[in-house]
Amino acid sequence: MFAMSVAVNESFGWCWILVGFLVGGWLGLSFNKPDWLGGYASYPRRLVRLGHISFIGLGLLNILFALSAARCNLEPQQLQIAAIAMIVGAIGMPLACGLTAWRAAFKPLFYIPVASLLTGVGLIAYGMVRG
Ligand code: HEM
Repeated sequence: MFAMSVAVNESFGWCWILVGFLVGGWLGLSFNKPDWLGGYASYPRRLVRLGHISFIGLGLLNILFALSAARCNLEPQQLQIAAIAMIVGAIGMPLACGLTAWRAAFKPLFYIPVASLLTGVGLIAYGMVRG
């Protein structure tokens, strides 16, 4: 079976934060224009902002997971599922934000990162509580 070290989550996390900063920089080029993407409170603008934040927040959570993994009492396969789920969720969330900002019909895509992140963090919390 494919085995992925949690070190991948740590490196991925730092890369994802970097991408989040770059997206923030892109936002920064136009956010002073009152009507950009329909204005500050428009649905697309809010989703693009959410995407920017999710890169950073989910990058941080992947690093945190990697740092906690040694104390997470899970079976190797459960740890693998958690590791993969945290990355799938971190990729899926900004992707769903961006696509839904572009076309509202993509909103159902959010089910993928939400289910993936609930699975990942659910397993991690269970492993940490088991101690
Ligand atoms: C190089 C780093 C960053 C840049 C260039 C950047 C840029 C931006 C810009 C331009 C906006 C406004 C977007 C808009 O008006 O639609 C924004 C919003 C936001 N950013 Fe960042 N950002 C950076 C880092 C961060 C970090 C580290 C965090 C948190 C951990 C963060 C959290 C947020 C939040 C919560 C908002 C929404 C604020 C609001 O509701 O107006 N950003 N960012």
